[in-house]
Amino acid sequence: MTDFDKFQDRSLSAAEKWNKEDWLEHFSGDDLLPFWVADMEFKAPPVVCDHLLKRAENGIFGYEYRRDSLMDAVIHWYAHRHQWQIKSSDLCFSNSVMNAISVLINLHTEKGDGIIIQAPVFFEFRLTIMDNKRKVVRNPLKLVDNHYQMDFDDLEEKAANPRTRMMILCNPHNPVGRVWKREELQRVSEICKKHQVLIIADEIHSDIVYPGHQYIPFASLSEEAAQQSFSCLSPAKTFNIASVTDAMIVIGNEQYRAQYKDFVSRYLFHKNNAFSAIAMESAYSNKGGEWLDELLVYLQANLDYLENYLREYIPKVKLIKTEGTFLAWLDFRELGIETKALEKFIAQEARIAINPGYWFGRQGAGFARMTIACPRSMLKEGLSRLERAINGLKGNVI
Ligand SMILES: Cc1ncc(COP(=O)(O)O)c(C=O)c1O
Repeated sequence: MTDFDKFQDRSLSAAEKWNKEDWLEHFSGDDLLPFWVADMEFKAPPVVCDHLLKRAENGIFGYEYRRDSLMDAVIHWYAHRHQWQIKSSDLCFSNSVMNAISVLINLHTEKGDGIIIQAPVFFEFRLTIMDNKRKVVRNPLKLVDNHYQMDFDDLEEKAANPRTRMMILCNPHNPVGRVWKREELQRVSEICKKHQVLIIADEIHSDIVYPGHQYIPFASLSEEAAQQSFSCLSPAKTFNIASVTDAMIVIGNEQYRAQYKDFVSRYLFHKNNAFSAIAMESAYSNKGGEWLDELLVYLQANLDYLENYLREYIPKVKLIKTEGTFLAWLDFRELGIETKALEKFIAQEARIAINPGYWFGRQGAGFARMTIACPRSMLKEGLSRLERAINGLKGNVI
């Protein structure tokens, strides 16, 4: 059994989440307990660490190719875990999911074209669209009875604009934690098909889904969905190997796949990294799967702990039900604190680093995102800091 309660000292690595310079820049403080970057405070599965060590001991790091066994491991994982049969011919690689998204934006849209995102959503979508001089088109999610839903009428309206060429779908959704249902994905597929909008399905969080919910790979919906989409997958979140992995892109459309491969060879993106190949292949193994099953139990218990803690001690802060991801989306609106003041209050009074909701779009104002993939003792300490700060609130905090 993995001991997820054990605190791991990350000070020896260049962990972004624990970098005080980043804290100063983003939170104006250097004495914080961090829950912001979407990675975990847990060691990667032993099978990954053991194989990486063995590979390092080998000591020869010349040019390598991607072995068939790596493709087989990815295909086997998605077939067995998610009942999605990926064709080996459709499987492509990139350095990271965001790298793939940026390339796909460049290949399939022109400057000034519109790309739909469903705010509040992972902020790098917006930044990448803007960096590529494309237009961010927002199809905001609706919060109905504490449950986020897609606004299909608005999606249809936005997709109908001839300058709208693409949509980035986040499934499961960071930060609101929705795991989209088949009917919802089907509507997205139909609307985008009708208006010839291509879909990038960012499914990096696909393995972290809680009981009662099921991740449906967008491309598995139908042949039509497979033809109109690019599925971006990665073991980075699942196994906490973001700095030592590549990402996969499944491209069902032959012409789009050829365009992607052409881009890869033109810009010499094809090089393999010995360590990422080993990490990925080891992670997508039976032992990796067993480790993930244990992790999911621990994360669910952390979510329960968080929910109960809020209900009992900080009732004004509400948890939006998390269906998937190790990210909790917290609703602070009842505190009645203005957005910037809330950000300052959480960092300076509670001394925890969590992502202010407005980072994910103005629809996120009044909310914040907290990573719960940490030992329970750390979560407990973060929550008690928050509780002390909120209970000490008197009147206006500005
Ligand atoms: C939805 C989503 N996509 C992409 C990424 C980043 O993935 P990568 O590091 O592979 O670019 C993240 C990381 O938080 C994410 O949440």
